[in-house]
Amino acid sequence: MKLLSKRGDEIQILALSGDRIEKGDYLVIDDGTSPKIIVQVFDETYLDSTGIDEEILRDELFTADKMKIIDPDRLQTISYMIRDARILRSKIRGTIVNGKFNPEIGWLPSRAQSSIRRISQKELNGLFENAASHPMSLGKNAGGEEVVIDATDIDGSLTIITGRKESGKSHFAKLLLSELVKQGAYVFVLDLNNEYSGLASDASGNPSDISGRLKILEPGSNMLFTLKYLGKRVLSEILAHALDTPSITVREYMKIWDQMNEEGDISIRNLYNKVNTAKVNDMVRDALVSRYYSMLSTRVFANSDAMGIDFKSLISKHPNGGGFLFSMAKMSPMARRVLVQILLSKLMDLLENEDIPPVFIFAEEAHLYFEHTYWEDAITRMRHFGIFLTFITNQPDSLNVTVYRQADNVFLFNFINEKDLEMIAQSSRIDGETVRELVRSLPSRKCLAIGKAVKDLPVVVKVRELPYDMRGRTKKFFAAKSISSTTAKAA
Ligand SMILES: Nc1ncnc2c1ncn2[C@@H]1O[C@H](COP(=O)(O)OP(=O)(O)O)[C@@H](O)[C@H]1O
Ligand SMILES: [Mg+2]
Repeated sequence: MKLLSKRGDEIQILALSGDRIEKGDYLVIDDGTSPKIIVQVFDETYLDSTGIDEEILRDELFTADKMKIIDPDRLQTISYMIRDARILRSKIRGTIVNGKFNPEIGWLPSRAQSSIRRISQKELNGLFENAASHPMSLGKNAGGEEVVIDATDIDGSLTIITGRKESGKSHFAKLLLSELVKQGAYVFVLDLNNEYSGLASDASGNPSDISGRLKILEPGSNMLFTLKYLGKRVLSEILAHALDTPSITVREYMKIWDQMNEEGDISIRNLYNKVNTAKVNDMVRDALVSRYYSMLSTRVFANSDAMGIDFKSLISKHPNGGGFLFSMAKMSPMARRVLVQILLSKLMDLLENEDIPPVFIFAEEAHLYFEHTYWEDAITRMRHFGIFLTFITNQPDSLNVTVYRQADNVFLFNFINEKDLEMIAQSSRIDGETVRELVRSLPSRKCLAIGKAVKDLPVVVKVRELPYDMRGRTKKFFAAKSISSTTAKAA
């Protein structure tokens, strides 16, 4: 390989067909004197210009071991080699200074003297100060090497997993979740399709290695909260944000709360009596009563103290880490909003009082519960308190550009839609060209990992399989039909 040219942060390299280099690969340019430069190939084209490029090509063909003897038969080969020569377009990612990675560069390597070679993932990792303290494997890169990240780089972070339907986003989220839980973290999952519960079983249906750390919570059954536990502030936030309650009605609710508190009976039952007997005008009473019934219909409010969830004890019952799966598939949109508001408000309360350790929240299609302005506002506040969000979505434009800008990690799966890709390209931690070129051609189950977890050296990963019962396949009419007809035959 030979150095052709440099334009801005792009370096063009000439390669022959024998140089097995793929998009996404990392190369080292070494001219023997200045620090070595690390570049990443993001695109390749054929060589079709003349002049100096051809000069360099001739040089590359006739040196090295590629061309030892010239004989007439080989002339055909040479012409093929010329036609197959490629230009590798690559981006500068940094340099190697004293054996360590340095993100800065400020010089032009010698075009005549430079040697260029592929650098392995392992060698790249070796350029960083510390080995991963909490390693987790994501899968393999194009060269078949394991891509290992450090769980501490997911910690404290905003993470986005996006791509089209069926591209492998939820699978990847399950991978992150299972690894975080194994490392002792606490993860709350907004499980929109009730698909994460499969992690409790291995492929043959026996309890998995993390089954003891998972807790599946269902509305109307064990996903229940008492008013008393939630507290006055959380109730006011549920009313205001999740139930769109006018502020005058919220104020009445707060008065009712104080009355219930004086009576020593803060409960959903007592609330029923109070909203019905409140000395207010009919319009306000209607609003009070309708919010009461809305709350009741969510099936997440407990009547008795014994049944209610207490996050602190839920966490202390899982001393080695826990995944708390909130099954939301059968909940109404309103009930989902209420649940999410409960989670966010109550967890923030507990974190503020240092009652619980920092937690992770995985949210599938978060825009289905709250619009993006709500999340934008919540993101910075929550991070400050110790709630670290992972958004999983097949509608990238459901998150605002500012959310992408704040993201520490983005895992990008395949996209069909150019517009979506454009939006992400504009706003993520790497240049748009790399995003566009590397993601456009990605097959399912492969993603481009960008950000802190990969030390800002983006890498295409073939996501590994998981040793769990992978549910969450989209329900299909004909599949269901063929199962019922085979059972009919068997009967
Ligand atoms: N890396 C992988 N290895 C094996 N199976 C996978 C992998 N990624 C996805 N799948 C499977 O492909 C299907 C679609 O993946 P899923 O994660 O549900 O897609 P998405 O959430 O993007 O719609 C699922 O059946 C899932 O189990
Ligand atoms: Mg999914």
